[in-house]
Amino acid sequence: MNYQLKAKPILVDPFGRTVNYLRISVTDRCNLRCVYCMAEDMTFLPREQLLNLEEIETIASAFVRLGVNKIRLTGGEPMVRNGIVDLCKKLSALDGLNELVMTTNGVLLDKYANELADAGVKRLNISLDSLQADRVKKITRHGKLEDVLRGIEAARSAGFERIKLNAVVLDGVNDDEVTELAEFALSRDLDITFIEEMPLGEINSHSRSDTQVASHTLAQRLAERYEFEPAKESTHTSNLASNRGPSRYHQVKGYRGRIGFISPMTDNFCSSCNRVRLTSEGRLLLCLGNEHSLDLRNIVRNNSNTDTDLQAAIQEAITRKPEKHHFDASKTDIIRFMNMTGG
Ligand code: 5AD
Ligand code: SF4
Repeated sequence: MNYQLKAKPILVDPFGRTVNYLRISVTDRCNLRCVYCMAEDMTFLPREQLLNLEEIETIASAFVRLGVNKIRLTGGEPMVRNGIVDLCKKLSALDGLNELVMTTNGVLLDKYANELADAGVKRLNISLDSLQADRVKKITRHGKLEDVLRGIEAARSAGFERIKLNAVVLDGVNDDEVTELAEFALSRDLDITFIEEMPLGEINSHSRSDTQVASHTLAQRLAERYEFEPAKESTHTSNLASNRGPSRYHQVKGYRGRIGFISPMTDNFCSSCNRVRLTSEGRLLLCLGNEHSLDLRNIVRNNSNTDTDLQAAIQEAITRKPEKHHFDASKTDIIRFMNMTGG
């Protein structure tokens, strides 16, 4: 027996939080233009500024060696990135990674769901803000409800471990649909999470302070129809209470699917934050609500000793992870759009 085996190095920040979850935005581009996420006329990054797929893999494997065991691919829309399925195969094969998951708008799932499941993607989060075709059009600017519904069905038959629907709820836009959305999810054994809109990126469609709806208001509305109670543990990260992440899940009586709330505006979940984010251009963001970042692209592109340098840079960055975010819906302090950051 080898008694020399060392425990895995882990990333622990100054507030005692273990970082075991990396979210990677594989592209800032998207086939939709959701009003809460983007301006109508977005300028995307020139391709050479994006990390290439090998660079993403190199950075991801450095994180996994440092103890990260869960990776989420986001965008923009991950499926508009060429080579996404191959990237999934490579990442899911990393020794030490337990879960590769993806957030998507669902539009291209009809085409890719089976390939992604075969490539080792275990779970999907699919955006669905409304079940009314005209509203979907209005919210996403380019999206068609029927495409998303077809995508959800394709995902259901592709054998993912779990599928969760994400609805960003805007007052006066889709807040009257939360019960219908919950019923749509629960009747199909899917989870659904209702998300409070965050002030990320300067948008031109509406004033964010007019559309805020607090999760507890939605919870009250849903309680008229469903009996639910907080789930004992959040299954989407580790079982450690200190590593629970921001989504508060509720078990619903009579259903397998769960209802969750992500409440960045009304609930400070920062004390259990276990994640960092890699932007599509290779900046490591330590907190969604702060601009602190570290350029990892520079290290993978210009260095010969990439892996050692990457690991050292990441470890150093974690010592600068901010304690919490301070969002104010009436101000856009964070000029990054969500598509750069990874939702
Ligand atoms: N506030 C909250 N959620 C957002 N998303 C995108 N922009 C915002 C925002 N400003 C969500 C999308 C999707 C994921 C990519 O991020 O609905 O679920
Ligand atoms: Fe695209 Fe997602 Fe942003 Fe909508 S929220 S524009 S689907 S990245």
